[in-house]
Amino acid sequence: MTTQELNRTASPERIQPLEDFFSANDARNDRWRALNVAAQEWATNGSEKSAAQKRVLTLFNEFAPIEDYWAFPGPTLMRSLKEAIDAQDANVVAHLTRRIGRSLLSGSYRSDATSWDPLAEQDGSSGQALPPDVQGEPIHKPYFEVLIVTPNDPSQWERARKQMLQLRRPDDPFVYQIVQVGSFEDAALAAVLNTNLQAVVIYDGFSFTSRHSVPLLHEQLARFANIDAAGLAAEGRGLGLELANVLKNFRPELDIYLLTDRSVEDLAGSPEATSVRRMFYDVEEALEIHLSIMDGVNDRYLTPYFSNLKQYAARPIGTFHALPIARGKSVFRSNWIRDMGQFYGTNIFLAESSATSGGLDSLLEPTNNIKVAQEMTARAFGAKRCYFATNGTSTSNKIVVQGLCAPGDIVIVDRNCHKSHHYGFVLSGAQPLYVEAFPLTKYSMYGAVPLRTIKKALLDLRAEGKLDRVKLVDLTNCTFDGHMYNPQRVMEECLAIKPNLAFIWDEAWFAFARFSPLHRRRTGMGAAAVLAAKYRDPAYRKAYEAHKAEVGKLDPKDPKLLDMRLLPDPDKVRIRVYQTNSTHKSMSAFRQGSMMLIWDDDFHEVEGTFQEAFLAHTSTSPNLQLIASLDVARRQMELEGYELTMRMTGIAIDLRERINKHPLISKYFRVASPEEMIPAEFRKSGIKDYGPPNSTWRDVVKAWDEDEFALDPTRITLLCGEAGFDGTQFKGMLAERFDIQINKTSRNSILVQININNTRADAAHLIKALINLSRELEDRLNREGKTGKEAFDSRVRALTVEVPDLPNFSEFHGAFRDDGKSKTNEGHMRAAFFKAYDDAGCEYVKLAAKEIDDRLKNGPPLVSANFVIPYPPGFPIMVPGQVIKSDTITFMRKLDVKEIHGYQAARGLKLLKPDSLGGKVNPER
Ligand SMILES: Cc1ncc(COP(=O)(O)O)c(C=O)c1O
Repeated sequence: MTTQELNRTASPERIQPLEDFFSANDARNDRWRALNVAAQEWATNGSEKSAAQKRVLTLFNEFAPIEDYWAFPGPTLMRSLKEAIDAQDANVVAHLTRRIGRSLLSGSYRSDATSWDPLAEQDGSSGQALPPDVQGEPIHKPYFEVLIVTPNDPSQWERARKQMLQLRRPDDPFVYQIVQVGSFEDAALAAVLNTNLQAVVIYDGFSFTSRHSVPLLHEQLARFANIDAAGLAAEGRGLGLELANVLKNFRPELDIYLLTDRSVEDLAGSPEATSVRRMFYDVEEALEIHLSIMDGVNDRYLTPYFSNLKQYAARPIGTFHALPIARGKSVFRSNWIRDMGQFYGTNIFLAESSATSGGLDSLLEPTNNIKVAQEMTARAFGAKRCYFATNGTSTSNKIVVQGLCAPGDIVIVDRNCHKSHHYGFVLSGAQPLYVEAFPLTKYSMYGAVPLRTIKKALLDLRAEGKLDRVKLVDLTNCTFDGHMYNPQRVMEECLAIKPNLAFIWDEAWFAFARFSPLHRRRTGMGAAAVLAAKYRDPAYRKAYEAHKAEVGKLDPKDPKLLDMRLLPDPDKVRIRVYQTNSTHKSMSAFRQGSMMLIWDDDFHEVEGTFQEAFLAHTSTSPNLQLIASLDVARRQMELEGYELTMRMTGIAIDLRERINKHPLISKYFRVASPEEMIPAEFRKSGIKDYGPPNSTWRDVVKAWDEDEFALDPTRITLLCGEAGFDGTQFKGMLAERFDIQINKTSRNSILVQININNTRADAAHLIKALINLSRELEDRLNREGKTGKEAFDSRVRALTVEVPDLPNFSEFHGAFRDDGKSKTNEGHMRAAFFKAYDDAGCEYVKLAAKEIDDRLKNGPPLVSANFVIPYPPGFPIMVPGQVIKSDTITFMRKLDVKEIHGYQAARGLKLLKPDSLGGKVNPER
């Protein structure tokens, strides 16, 4: 990047306060850019007392302490810069800031040794380059940083750093640099701020308090680590293990090594030592530590399936199986499809096979590298097991439902869940008991299912003596629109009613969440780990005893149970959590790459049926590239997931704020805030929006820990009704005119999803499009005068005020219920589904026909023969066997979407004929 480019990207006025940024890296880069701008100005035309010189000083003093938490530029370069500033040598200051800024932005310090040398004229390329990649680009050894926490006096740090760096060897697979800190607080801050860290070496005996007094740092620390500073300081003993646990809690991927003069054998056996990868006795071989660091990073870097596939592709193999495309000869020798080969390149063909020999392993019965890849993925997600799926989470959900449920079992399920769950019930014969999410009628969307509703369903089933048939609670987390459950709370209270209940958390959108310390607390696997630890803790047992004394024997008819916090019996509770992730939706996996992550204490009881369901749904020709991409996507997130998820969250929060604060854009477009997306009763913290002045990071962490629902900031509901656009129209406009793609809309909104792929430039592109559209609207309204304004207002009203009510699930027809007296609403959906296969038993009635209104009034009831799923919103407003009520008909009649699966306007609604429903037809139903 040239100096002009550097200067262009940041003017001093643009700099935001550091604490406004979620991602410290961006904030830091902005500071260096600003410093560079000021330094260049000082060198070009400044005098000793110029404003530019003052700006250099202010900026430098402001962020120099933070630089201690990164290896680059490091103490030597920072010292040179400080000396040049003190000596008022503007040219040297300009030279150094330009070089440092460039290295940081381009990342060249990772591979170029001259970047670290204050005396070097230019950055060269004296790094440890490997042979170039296929595009001719040099491949460098991956670079990372190691945090050393030491009790030694800072005057000794330089010598210790040099000694440690001397241990690096030319045949090391990676290269690292060192960051040194001397206190608990500084170590925690380094782990929060420095996304390059992969390993931490803790020399016990360090102090607690940071040597810097910077309020920003304490705010950063408060985001993630709840540290009882006074308590720990008062204890006055070695803080090494406490530090290891705090670090592991918010960055579980870090390898932590502890050096102590206490008995390592005793410590290693203690339960608190699980966060430590390896313990060393203080005086042990330094080389061992170096090798352990390499080994630890390599454990995450390894991609057993992908690496083997690369080797396989490089071998000369004759294929005599049914996959002509493998090895590419049918493509590259063709006279007609050679462009396919040119487009995809050779590797995709060389890496294809329909065999499971050659070390390729079998997805259906993995014994080799797929097995290991799945185990590594389970580790990365904090699960006990992992199964890869190559047909998307559509398949993963069906596998889990069918694996755990048999005909007649009951599943408590959000009616708005993805259709794969509903089809899973048809396949397994499980009876869904649909529970309703809170509606957001204004935006024509649903939120998530309140815990009270779920508890009520469970208690009702218990009162009816059906609890033993309830196998699963099935919820979407987070929802399409970003509503995140509090899985710890949901599972805890449900387990108090049925201690061996299993849960499926459809986290199709949420694979990335594991790697963000903020989001992790709201994931199924994150919650499983917290609950498992909690129920082992003697303090919990005490709390439970007190709770039991208060509640006594659970009376399912006692309404107070719905509003009090229920606690499960630690002697009976089982953790049984299934999390499905569309890896392809938020990690670097190919489309349809999906994972099932499992923490099930009773898996041995269902392993057979789960395996059966896996075999039933898994293709016998799984795509090898998909499996490889799942393996690689895991590697990426274990090594840079922290950085990527922090950055994406930062971009999303910044984008939300920029849109809502922009004077022109916000006249027509607005991002719905947590306050608007989550009713106050589920948001006890009172949090209204992200970022100052609405909330500090401490507030956000507290809200995400405690509130019933929280809003994922990376899923941005952009309201467009005030601009007179419905969601579909607006989506089309963004695609056609601005090359901006989104995929979910509602009547008056679109969903903007920020993921690990997005950059600040993408956000800027969207903002620019919104400014253009807002300007056009202003011009048009000015041009068209009063009549135009009236037409516009009426369109806006239709989109934002005259919105249809959202229909709830009504009930299953009596023919599909166990008995007429049951109060709970589960139904035999499978029977209804297959009844529709008999065409003679079905009828079609046009939506507009008078017959519909007559039958709604006088019967016989309208009973849906199939799923009817409008896109958007994408949830079934009718399921097989459901009695259709007037609210559903009104909603259907008002629907203005073109795509309605299961409904052909020309034929009408497909219904089960009343006389096909046997003697059970009851017009009251
Ligand atoms: C909540 C939810 N679950 C599952 C799926 C299906 O996932 P996939 O596209 O990986 O099959 C989707 C797809 O949009 C979804 O939104």
